[in-house]
Amino acid sequence: MAIINFGGVEEEVITADEFTLEKAREVLADETVAVLGYGVQGPGQAMNLRDNGIRVIVGQREGGDSWDRAVADGFVPGKTLFPLEEAARQATVVQFLLSDAGQMQTWPLIKSCLNEGDALYFSHGFSIVFSDQTGVVPPDNVDVILVAPKGSGRTVRTNFLEGSGINSSFAVHQDFTGRARERTLALGIAIGSGYLFPTTFQNEVYSDLTGERGVLMGCLAGVMEAQYNLLRRHGHSPSEAFNETVEELTQSLIRLVAQNGMDWMFSNCSTTAQRGALDWAPRFRDAVAPVFDELYQKVVSGQETRRVLESNQAPDYRVKLQKELDEIKNSEMWRAGAAVRSLRPENRGK
Ligand SMILES: NC(=O)c1ccc[n+]([C@@H]2O[C@H](COP(=O)([O-])OP(=O)(O)OC[C@H]3O[C@@H](n4cnc5c(N)ncnc54)[C@H](OP(=O)(O)O)[C@@H]3O)[C@@H](O)[C@H]2O)c1
Repeated sequence: MAIINFGGVEEEVITADEFTLEKAREVLADETVAVLGYGVQGPGQAMNLRDNGIRVIVGQREGGDSWDRAVADGFVPGKTLFPLEEAARQATVVQFLLSDAGQMQTWPLIKSCLNEGDALYFSHGFSIVFSDQTGVVPPDNVDVILVAPKGSGRTVRTNFLEGSGINSSFAVHQDFTGRARERTLALGIAIGSGYLFPTTFQNEVYSDLTGERGVLMGCLAGVMEAQYNLLRRHGHSPSEAFNETVEELTQSLIRLVAQNGMDWMFSNCSTTAQRGALDWAPRFRDAVAPVFDELYQKVVSGQETRRVLESNQAPDYRVKLQKELDEIKNSEMWRAGAAVRSLRPENRGK
């Protein structure tokens, strides 16, 4: 464990320097890890564990695309790929990586497969923190742990293959065996986390739901659309509006912010951009602050999770979702985006 000063606040972090992959392999030497669910997180975590020499099997309901993808990724039916129940029974660590609504629906089955001393592992605090909605209440005789990668499952895999990693938070909700923390850290390192930082199930779910609804996706999509629409209303072309709003952000500025921070960005743009952006940043901060307040309050009250569970369980969820996504895809803004992307040198002629 290392203590790092984050802007004046000292926090614990764990990297593979403090908790090595060798140590993770030792801790997990007698474990069978079942990754239940081969959606977005499942593949990244399962393949990284396998490549790191951990005994891993996949549990996935049969007959769909996810099963076929697991086979294509080298998991062998009857050997390392099983229906959910069978995988859960064989495992000593059950990584519950179904969608959060799927976790609620399959919980009675999975619960019946847990043995004393098993570890029940989550990558989100949702099911446990909102157990009044999900019904997920683990038995007393298992460890209940969390490693939550702070990125898409896709980058969990691609960053691993590139030799970097996605940072993950970790938490222990219930320590039955006395080994819960070392199991958690071992799994966190073995799935390829860049560094691990401590949280609680509650803080993980509150911050995660706020982040994805806020700056990471919801707010970002909203403010991009607002600026694009404004420019179009004032007669700017789709190409100009899209380049000024999205393309310059994703292809240039955000990468520089990732490398160097925001102050560097402000000091490495034109003085014209610098003065204006510095003046307008507090205006935008103050304008959205009340929306963020409402968002956080709705996360904490359980309103957000209730909406997720209700809508995900609707029989026509996927049909309605596709309609919503098609509307975005077919909007002028994102059709302009597709055209802009097709003009990138690497995409030309494709
Ligand atoms: N997406 C991310 O990058 C990300 C990032 C951090 C944390 N997490 C957390 O990781 C966990 C997994 O998320 P995810 O995004 O990977 O989920 P996902 O892609 O939505 O997971 C879908 C998986 O769940 C299965 N599933 C759903 N409902 C089911 C049901 N009723 N019965 C049986 N199987 C069912 C699907 O099987 P079929 O394909 O057969 O439908 C598929 O294997 C969640 O707790 C999530 O909050 C996700």
